[in-house]
Amino acid sequence: MSQIATLILDGESHDFPVIVGTENEPAIDISSLRARTGHITLDQGYGNTGSCESAITYIDGEKGILRYRGIPIEQFANGPNFIEVAWLLIFGRLPNVEEYAEFANELTHEANIDEGMRHHFDSFPRKAPPMAILASMVSALSCFHPELLELDDPSRFRSAAARLMSKIRTIAAFAYRHSQGLPYMYPDPREKYVNNFLHMMFSMPYDHYVDDDLVRDALNMILILHADHEQNCSTSTVRMVGSSHANLFASCSAGISALWGPLHGGANVAVLEMLQRIHDGQLTPQEYVKLSKDKESGVRLMGFGHRVYKNFDPRARLLADIAGELLPRLDKNDPLLNIARELEEIALQDPYFVERKLYPNVDFYSGIILRAIGIPVNMFTVIFAMGRLPGWIAHWWEQQQENARISRPRQVYQGNGLTDYTPLHGRKR
Ligand code: SDX
Repeated sequence: MSQIATLILDGESHDFPVIVGTENEPAIDISSLRARTGHITLDQGYGNTGSCESAITYIDGEKGILRYRGIPIEQFANGPNFIEVAWLLIFGRLPNVEEYAEFANELTHEANIDEGMRHHFDSFPRKAPPMAILASMVSALSCFHPELLELDDPSRFRSAAARLMSKIRTIAAFAYRHSQGLPYMYPDPREKYVNNFLHMMFSMPYDHYVDDDLVRDALNMILILHADHEQNCSTSTVRMVGSSHANLFASCSAGISALWGPLHGGANVAVLEMLQRIHDGQLTPQEYVKLSKDKESGVRLMGFGHRVYKNFDPRARLLADIAGELLPRLDKNDPLLNIARELEEIALQDPYFVERKLYPNVDFYSGIILRAIGIPVNMFTVIFAMGRLPGWIAHWWEQQQENARISRPRQVYQGNGLTDYTPLHGRKR
């Protein structure tokens, strides 16, 4: 029997339906609230507000569960490559051998960017933030692929998804090469997805980069663990922009900009800067944790806390394990890893963090792994964007399929009451 929620306003009862998700998460459907009661709700940061129903990713923040299309992320630890998981997220199930091969071939075929786009890189300052270049050039795909702006059928959507998935690597690598004053290394059709990216990042015209399997597998897992995370800030941004029927490239470009913020995807850079500050002796781990508890300091323990996880972020657990295995095997002894572990140990025993259920999140260890495989710090959030792209594409398409209404939240107005215009020269000094 379906549940209802009753709201009593000015002595009048109003019943609203309760809908229940696959994992029994209940939600009060307030779609008719304003029409029936003249009231809206207010929920700063949407901590209690569902924006949609979705079948892509399930998170249980209390239990630290994360599943892509029902599959726990722990099961991806020693198995698929990123493209297989991207296919799962975008198309709703695991691909068969033929579907996977066809998609992988399409990504190989689509890896190059138009030469006109390549010339754009030359106009950016060397020190331009790679996230700014990434957002600009992903949006610029709308200029070079106008035939993929109206995606009214699945086959054109699939072409756009493949083109975007493939070209984001080239754009990311070219942004890095430009920042270093290095020649662009074009995609190598003989290389698979991650290897091709590493080739474009680190090969030289006279020296083809050969990564070892450890580096490839670590980056593959980093991309998988970042691939989707339901209605996070950047994915909600992609949905918001897509709800106006803006095209896929423009919507994902907006997602890149949202991800850039240090409270979101930019946190992996902030974590490294925090660890480096401690390593350089500016503060001890104890002093940093103390500072992060002082609201006046404006300092937060970066890589800790999460809007949804009130338990360990399952991705952080996997990334901590990868860091612990990878660094010794790469013969890298990064002091920042030891500092991270010390910070984690201190915080997990500190009542401030325990009471607020603040645990390490995805960003706490990812930077240490990226640094160990040679990715420069200013490219960390770019890697996060590459990982999150299939999630953005999946959510954009899920929303397009539903013919969802344009997203347009309400507000509670707290400004001036009715006010008259006064001519410029009549105003008080
Ligand atoms: C990502 O949403 C997603 O799914 C995001 C993501 C994804 O995959 O897309 O998981 C990726 O963005 C991970 C988060 C990366 N950001 C950081 O690591 C930055 C540091 N963390 C925080 O700023 C914070 O925890 C957020 C932004 C992640 C969550 O912010 P909320 O949910 O708005 O929590 P809050 O700011 O209301 O904090 C609740 C309390 C506050 O203290 P009180 O007012 O209750 O006394 O906890 C405190 C906060 O001051 N707090 C922290 C803290 N995080 C929260 N105090 C110190 N250090 C921290 N890191």
